[in-house]
Amino acid sequence: VVKIKELFRNTEQYLDKEVTVGGWIRSIRDSKTFGFIVISDGSFFEPLQVVYGEKLENFQEITKQNVGAALIVKGTLVATPNAKQPFEIQAACVEIEGVSAPDYPLQKKRHSFEYLRTISHLRPRTNTFQAVFRIRSLCAYAIHSFFQERGFVYVHTPIITGSDAEGAGEMFQVTTLDMENVPMAEGKIDYSKDFFGKETNLTVSGQLNGETFAQAFGNIYTFGPTFRAENSNTTRHAAEFWMIEPEIAFADLDDNMDLAEDMLKYVIRYVLEHAPEEMNFFNSFVDKGLIERLNNVMNSDFERITYTKAIELLEEVNDRFEYKVHWGSDLQTEHERYLTEELYKKPVFVTDYPIEIKAFYMKQNSDGKTVAAMDCLVPGIGEIIGGSQREDDLNKLVARMKETGLSEEEYQFYLDLRKYGSTRHAGYGLGFERCIMYLTGMGNIRDVIPFPRTTGNADL
Ligand code: 4AD
Ligand code: MG
Repeated sequence: VVKIKELFRNTEQYLDKEVTVGGWIRSIRDSKTFGFIVISDGSFFEPLQVVYGEKLENFQEITKQNVGAALIVKGTLVATPNAKQPFEIQAACVEIEGVSAPDYPLQKKRHSFEYLRTISHLRPRTNTFQAVFRIRSLCAYAIHSFFQERGFVYVHTPIITGSDAEGAGEMFQVTTLDMENVPMAEGKIDYSKDFFGKETNLTVSGQLNGETFAQAFGNIYTFGPTFRAENSNTTRHAAEFWMIEPEIAFADLDDNMDLAEDMLKYVIRYVLEHAPEEMNFFNSFVDKGLIERLNNVMNSDFERITYTKAIELLEEVNDRFEYKVHWGSDLQTEHERYLTEELYKKPVFVTDYPIEIKAFYMKQNSDGKTVAAMDCLVPGIGEIIGGSQREDDLNKLVARMKETGLSEEEYQFYLDLRKYGSTRHAGYGLGFERCIMYLTGMGNIRDVIPFPRTTGNADL
């Protein structure tokens, strides 16, 4: 069995020869003596046309097949220079591997994304979701390549954790249903409390664990599932999402932004090079102008402005916003969109936010008011990356933890890092789904993760 992708990429090698292809029917039609089937095997964005004639012994049976049926087709690959597709298979044999019931929900017409969300087990068979999930897979690979090529060590940080790295209290708690049946381990832990002897939750960020490895390996990254019980039911928030969190030692905020910018440009280039058919599809049917925009992003510098400057710019047009800004307020989507879509028309790093609206671990600037934070905002989405230089001064960190109500005891490991060979260091988190939205132009986070988890929805 040969993959359709191979036929498209190395056509010369297969023309006028016998090939065998396995795939699923996308469309099927027949006249009295012959018929056409379009099949997809998932290997390539373009499907393959099969022509079959009445001389096949199971001709009648083939004509009765429904969209979605699985077939194995043996036949000759012939060029069709005058047709829409470059070649087709003239079938010598069509084996029906698995029939499809007539109520198959995916018919040839276009279905809405809303409807397709209700059949997340079938939607990967559609054009759009073939393209989305191929890009998702390639993008994951590109991110690993980017960091691995630069010598970063990939760290698997835990999913079950006792800490709230972001201090935002947006955690899903982990509990055991039946402690009585959990075998007691030896030792002094009070298992009557819970399995782990303390309250635990699903991780909201691997950063704090990642920092421990950065202080040993220098440069590291994580890439894993992340969970937030956020009270925002938007097109950009999921309760379960994937995050990439590099952490770099002997580095400051500028190094951090350079890394983030290089990474984004790298993945853009990677998907444009490795999935041209999918990217053209998005450019034509989902987001016109996508490719041109991505090309521009690759070939120019991101804008870098301080939060204070951003507020000044936004205040000039404050009357157009639903939420008026002033120094100290957090940026809302409408403000992020104004900066990226109207003012600069490209990705923008906003740096040096007020200390009060950022996490406890961020390095305090000498002005006493701001921290060395950076968010990367992009047109169409808003925040795609959040990061900072980390506070490496033990005393300042302890003081900030006290102010924000964190227990020194619980975070002793984190303070140890500042005690034993502390370095300047920085890192960021890239929301993987937001990155996929950015690369594809897809407008809803539910449509770029295979099985979305959002408020009220954990189907499949
Ligand atoms: O800005 P955040 O909260 O930063 C952190 O978690 C840091 N610990 C990262 C670090 O410095 N190592 O989240 C980082 C990114 C956001 O910019 C956003 O892209 C994504 O994670 N994100 C979400 N994506 C989807 N659904 C959600 N609910 C998200 N929350 C954050
Ligand atoms: Mg953030």
